[in-house]
Amino acid sequence: MFRTIKLLHPDYVRGRIDLTSLQGLKLSLRSLVFLKKNLTNLRKGHLAFISKLVGVKIHYLEQYLAELNRNTSFFESLEQQYLSVWPSHRFYPHFFETNYPSKGGSVFFQSVTMYLLVRAMRPNVVIETGGAGGKSSTFILQALKDNQQGRLVTLDLNPEATGRLNSEYSWWPQGQPSYFLVPDNLRNRLDIRLGDAKTNLPKLLEEIDSFDLFRHDSDHSYEHMLFEFRAAWPMLRDGGILVSDDIRANTSFYEFCQEVDREPVVSLQALGGIQK
Ligand SMILES: C[S@@+](CC[C@H](N)C(=O)[O-])C[C@H]1O[C@@H](n2cnc3c(N)ncnc32)[C@H](O)[C@@H]1O
Repeated sequence: MFRTIKLLHPDYVRGRIDLTSLQGLKLSLRSLVFLKKNLTNLRKGHLAFISKLVGVKIHYLEQYLAELNRNTSFFESLEQQYLSVWPSHRFYPHFFETNYPSKGGSVFFQSVTMYLLVRAMRPNVVIETGGAGGKSSTFILQALKDNQQGRLVTLDLNPEATGRLNSEYSWWPQGQPSYFLVPDNLRNRLDIRLGDAKTNLPKLLEEIDSFDLFRHDSDHSYEHMLFEFRAAWPMLRDGGILVSDDIRANTSFYEFCQEVDREPVVSLQALGGIQK
């Protein structure tokens, strides 16, 4: 061990061994340690966000996360759905995808937050706005399945209104309906409402007595976000949770928290939440 350190010290090796490659090695080792430390901190910070929001110990969240990571058939079916429409889609090993935030390369991290929230809260009714291809919906549905209770009502625009039917939406796989990613075995708890949330959210809220968890991820304009928060809050049960993606898009989330006199809980990943 001591010998290795001595060997890696530039003063010791100067002039004897190819210094450039050793320094390169030292640098990359240092950046790996730095990266690992940073990612671990991000992960811990993120679990702390959920723990604070729901009032569940981090220890339980770690268990739910471990359970998700062990569920290889879930990841296999999700990857199959992705690859069937985007054959060149690149996946990181799923442990990385679920444990580290998007800046670390994950496409799943935000959705994993929803999985953990749903596991920890055990809701009966979850409402989500902005379902798109169904990535976040799939994680919510898997959590409901693991809880063996609850349903998801998810709102997105009609395909005609999204531009997905023509070339405006270049990344959308041609001919695929909304929520195309949701595997068949998770659809029994899924209720999709297509149309503008401005009309469909109030309509839905008239239908139900109350609900447990609300997630905004649709139109991130100031007016629309405020509209959704104000519409959803009165029907959210006491103790229920409202979370919003992209709270940095404008000040609506913070203004709403003031309006309802709640202290926001905010994650590093631009997610915010409050408990009623
Ligand atoms: C950021 S994407 C949602 C991503 C999704 N949650 C996921 O995890 O993949 C935003 C979605 O909001 C939808 N959207 C935008 N404005 C909307 C509105 N007024 N009502 C309902 N959905 C809307 C868009 O069609 C789009 O699919």
